[in-house]
Amino acid sequence: MMARRSEFLVLVAIVLILIHSSAGAGMSAYEVLRVNGLPSGLLPKGVREFSIGDDGSFEAHLDHPCLAKFENHVLYQTNISGSISFGRISSISGVSAQELFLWFPVKAIVVDDPLSGVIFFDVGDVRKQFPISTFDTPPDCAPTDEEDVLALHRAGGGVGVWRS
Ligand SMILES: *[C@@H]1O[C@H](CO)[C@@H](O)[C@H](O)[C@H]1NC(C)=O
Repeated sequence: MMARRSEFLVLVAIVLILIHSSAGAGMSAYEVLRVNGLPSGLLPKGVREFSIGDDGSFEAHLDHPCLAKFENHVLYQTNISGSISFGRISSISGVSAQELFLWFPVKAIVVDDPLSGVIFFDVGDVRKQFPISTFDTPPDCAPTDEEDVLALHRAGGGVGVWRS
């Protein structure tokens, strides 16, 4: 009986590993977010290309840098990359969030407990909390001036003042 049970557990583990390693193949960026317990609205409308490796590292490409409005403004660069695991995107590059009038790189996005309804953004050196529902659907994203994005970078590590 015990042997049966452990065989069953091994089988379940193998199936889970197979599901996990095939997650990403042929899926859209938004689907990949959802199967990882993350809301699809973390990425804006208009992701043109998306690729993800077995280790969860991904790249998403937009046609141009763009600005989305949630509770805060979020700036997406043309190329966004990072690493996805269940409930977490880490090592993010290409996403900045506005705090007061400054822009800070979003380093990680984390859902610790899906039942809490809360999602955390590690922005600069602080952790910001939002309702997950804020990111239910991919937002419209207004194309922005490449020059502004470059100015943002020159200001160092993605911190800069937004000209509006
Ligand atoms: C975005 O990535 C593509 C393909 O990797 C590259 O050709 C392009 O130069 C990158 N664009 C920017 C703005 O970094």
